[in-house]
Amino acid sequence: LMRTKIPEGLQRLPGPKPIPIIGNVLEVGRNPHLSLTAMSVRYGPVFQIQIGMRPVVVLSGSNTVRQALIKQGEEFAGRPDLYSFHFINDGKSLAFSSDQAGVWRARRKLALCALRCFSTIEASSSEYSCVLEEHITKEAEYLVTQLSTAMEASGSFDPFRHIVVSVANVICGMCFGRRYSHDDEELLSLVNLSDEFGRVVGSGNPADFIPFLRFLPSCTMKKFMAINDRFNNFVQKIVTEHYSTYDKNNIRDITDSLIDHCEDRKLDENSNDQVSDEKIVGIVNDLFGAGFDTISTALSWSVVYLVAYPEVQEKLHQELRKNVGMDRSPRISDKPNLPFLEAFIMEIFRHSSFLPFTIPHCTTKDTSLNGFFIPKDTCVFVNQWQVNHDPTTWKEPSTFSPERFLDADGMGFNKLEAEKVLVFGLGKRRCIGETIGRTEFFLFLAILLQKMRFHKVPGHLLDMTPEYGLTMKHKRCQLRASLRKREQD
Ligand code: HEM
Repeated sequence: LMRTKIPEGLQRLPGPKPIPIIGNVLEVGRNPHLSLTAMSVRYGPVFQIQIGMRPVVVLSGSNTVRQALIKQGEEFAGRPDLYSFHFINDGKSLAFSSDQAGVWRARRKLALCALRCFSTIEASSSEYSCVLEEHITKEAEYLVTQLSTAMEASGSFDPFRHIVVSVANVICGMCFGRRYSHDDEELLSLVNLSDEFGRVVGSGNPADFIPFLRFLPSCTMKKFMAINDRFNNFVQKIVTEHYSTYDKNNIRDITDSLIDHCEDRKLDENSNDQVSDEKIVGIVNDLFGAGFDTISTALSWSVVYLVAYPEVQEKLHQELRKNVGMDRSPRISDKPNLPFLEAFIMEIFRHSSFLPFTIPHCTTKDTSLNGFFIPKDTCVFVNQWQVNHDPTTWKEPSTFSPERFLDADGMGFNKLEAEKVLVFGLGKRRCIGETIGRTEFFLFLAILLQKMRFHKVPGHLLDMTPEYGLTMKHKRCQLRASLRKREQD
């Protein structure tokens, strides 16, 4: 890029000077969200680093990110062809593969339709507004009994281990029409691999950019391939079962609906067959993966924050007691009456920024941003963590304070302020699970907060330093919980 001719009227991108072969890997270090935020102070909202031999453009600042992902959305909607992405979903991932625009668009539309359709269908009982509410409520209530049982048996529990199974069960229900027991070894060992997965796929993993690192006897890449194999085999087995029991007149779940789409297409002479059956049914693999890792990480962080900020936990419980009561479980329709809970959720998104970068983007043609030239096929990192900690937007950004999302009178939820938080990406590649994600996060938390109180294990230190990755996790820990009584203590 250094030698590329810059079109007249445009400038060359600023950025730190790279050293041969490794580029700026040392400055980027083990916490790219922090090091690249620091660089944005020095070089501005659009700058370039080099990871290995490959130039990467880093975007920060709400205005610049919006300009790129929304106003120039088409030009920034690609995905780079990164080494690790080849192993995800056998190279056929909707989220990570560098499919041509037409193929990606067709698959994204199908995925959106399937999610919308299977979350809004009617529940089995009129107690619930839709099947999504039914699944989430039942799993959350079951999680409460699981945590109580763990407390009785061992006096403490690892929150992530239990939450991840409950959350996986909601998406399993929608995708595969089944749920798993909290002791199911197959599911447990699979969902517990997600930390390892995120570590490799997180923006700035050197092995993605420096070819020779792939051939070092590094365990990480080998482990990564093994994880993807296990994940793919798990889903493949379920898909094969679905093909053998598929009945056009009884579409049971998202997998069936994707199979059905392929069958319909075969009967339609005019259909264009540019997307293979495998790539269509493979969408379910993305939905399952994205559907449990993100939400379980969000919930597990929340429980850790509740323990770290007991006065916030108490205020949240009192809001539920007052506006929902203790005689029934909270519902989606209670949301407008729980402004402090909404504010807490936004502050978890902002403060933890547990998805510090979006999935890497890539330019689809030569373009420019803020007057700087960016050639076609340039890898682009979008620093969500920076946007959520930008001191020009947020007062005391490092302070955890849900109150910042309340109106001046402290009573209502401030929507305008909440819109400044960036967690689901923006524009053409924006998350397709946002509605489900927000609903699930809200309802799980409301039910947990109504029914339980979480505490530290005395003498145990709570370490809130995140471990960097695609989704940043807190360190595994032991916590305690007790059931809330119907009557106020
Ligand atoms: C993409 C966040 C839940 C499915 C993304 C991206 C982010 C994100 C940041 C990348 C955007 C970009 O590259 O610019 C989240 C958060 C969630 C969540 C914070 C929950 C709290 C879900 C759920 C599903 C899902 C529940 C599915 C059931 C996807 C898919 C993509 C995606 C398929 C790829 C879209 C594409 O490349 O076109 N999400 N997500 N997500 N998400 Fe989510």
